Parts: sequence; C-alpha cells; structure tokens
Amino acid sequence: MIKELIGNKPSIDYEKEIIRLKEEMNAVILAHYYQTGDIQELADFIGDSLELARKAKESKADVIVFCGVHFMAETAKILNPEKLILLPDMDAGCSLADSCPADKFTEFKNKYPDHLVLSYINCSSEIKALSDIIVTSSNAEKIVRQIPENQPIIFAPDKNLGKYIASKTGREMVLWEGSCIVHETFSDRKILELMLQNPKAKLIAHPECEDHLLEKAFFIGSTSALLKFVQTDPSTEYIVATEPGIIYQMEKAMPAKRFIPAPGEEESCNCNNCPYMKLNTIEKLYLCMVNRSPEITMPEVIRVKALRPLEKMLEMSN
Ligand code: 13P
Ligand code: SF4
Repeated sequence: MIKELIGNKPSIDYEKEIIRLKEEMNAVILAHYYQTGDIQELADFIGDSLELARKAKESKADVIVFCGVHFMAETAKILNPEKLILLPDMDAGCSLADSCPADKFTEFKNKYPDHLVLSYINCSSEIKALSDIIVTSSNAEKIVRQIPENQPIIFAPDKNLGKYIASKTGREMVLWEGSCIVHETFSDRKILELMLQNPKAKLIAHPECEDHLLEKAFFIGSTSALLKFVQTDPSTEYIVATEPGIIYQMEKAMPAKRFIPAPGEEESCNCNNCPYMKLNTIEKLYLCMVNRSPEITMPEVIRVKALRPLEKMLEMSN
C-alpha cells in the first residue's frame, strides 16, 4: 500500500514523517559518513565504525535504525539483542566482508592454531564469532600494540589495513587477502595529476587504500580522524582518498576549505562511491520505519560468540 503510494509520488514529507516516526517508535537513527547528505541530516548521530558501535551499545532507544551497511547494523544487533535493528536496504553489504566467507576463513585459521585472530569490524557476524578481537581503522594500531610481542597474529579481512598496521607497529601478521572495491579504485595516475594541478592540496587517505597511495598521503586515518584532521590542520585544500560521502561533513565543518574527491581510474565511473552504502535512500529509510523491516537477525549462538571479541575491542580501545 505504502509502496504503491510512493510509486505514484504523493506528497510525503519524508523528513517530517521520519522525525514523527522516530518519536512514535522511540527510535534512534545512526548513520555512517558515507551516507548521502539528506540521510546524514536526519541522523541523531553520525560517526565512524567505532563511534557507531559505541553509540549503539549505549543507546536507550527501543529501535536502532542503522543507515550504513549490513556489518554495521549486525554489530548493533550483537551489542543489543533485545532491540529492533533496522537497515533501510538489506542488500547494503560490503565487498570486504564478502571477501571473507566463514568456511574458507575456518580452513585458513586452522592452519595457524597458535595465532590470535584480529578481525577488522568490516566482516560478517560469523567471522566475528571466529575471532579473538575486533578492530576498526581507528583503534587497530592501539590494539595491536597491546598484544605481547611473542604472540603471532592473523589479521583479516583487509590486507591493506593489515599491511598499514604492520608497517606502523613493526609486527609481522598473517594477512587474509581481502580488500574494499572502493578504496582500491583510486587511480594513482589521476591523483598524481591532481596533486600537480593543486600543489597546495594535501592528500589525505583512509587506511583501506593500497600502500602505493598511502605512501603519498600526508595524513592517514579513519573517516572520523580525517574529518578531525581537516578541522585542525592549517591547509585550505585537500584531496580526499576515501568514499566522498565524508566530504559532506567536511564542507559543513569547514566551508571556506576546498575538498577534492580522489577519482577512480575510469572517466566519470562514479566508482569512488560505495555502491552498498548508497543503496540506502531517504525513501527506504522512511519505509523501513513504517514497516519495522528489514530487521537484522542472527542465530543466538553466533551472536554470543561474536559479542566476546567486540567487547574485547571496546575494552582495549578505551
Ligand atoms: P571507518 O570506520 O573509518 O568509518 O570505515 C568504515 C568503512 O567502511 C570504510 O570503508
Ligand atoms: Fe565495504 Fe568498502 Fe563500502 Fe566500506 S567503502 S562499506 S569497506 S565496500
């Protein structure tokens, strides 16, 4: 019924309706920086993966509407089994999480029985359940530094973040060969051209980027760290090598500065946009609240196993 009405484009004021539904349902809207600006505007909280996990854990709402991707909403469910967790589009997955299926990862892990398993939060609940500690791009270095020197480590699923953390900490780690389609799309050649055309612009990058790009970056950090950096750094121009959704908050915070999105290899391919994050729309956000669906669920046995390494992460990143 509602879908039909929307198909005929009635005059639904989505913003007003979402605010009303939020009140009615005692819901909170959490959004990642890669969401579109209209969704970011409606969110109660916007953050990186670690901040969003913390917010989900401390939330007093009955319903968490997660505007992000599936693994983020799953994390909220692992931390809040009693709450209704909604994701506007159930197909909002993640190439990195998909690159690490549980059966293959179990075989891999069994080859290194004495290794501690550190998994980047961008993975499924099944992989979390097979892990000892979860990390995000903002706490991975801090957590690795707390692990005794003689303890061998498996790092999954992002080989780029793994390599970056290994180079920062000097720790050798066995890496799972996963990566993100968005952060591997950036063209070295085009970024070099941009740097030449904009000599005052600093290249700032997310650690999911490949090492040849990270080597050129002036600053490397999680989405929140990149946002904080541009607010304190004296420069006025930046080439931003991560999903361009973050630029919405950068421009809001620093309207006098210029932010240039790092381009992909293909001309006008739009491939620096995360196709999963961008599946969420304001219309789907409204519909998931009206329908109280799609809802995140998982077997309790997986949830309980996945909770332990997530709690360990929260403890170790305090
Ligand atoms: P952040 O934790 O830095 O926000 O990263 C999430 C993500 O998916 C990056 O691709
Ligand atoms: Fe996954 Fe990459 Fe999209 Fe982040 S940007 S959600 S790692 S596909």
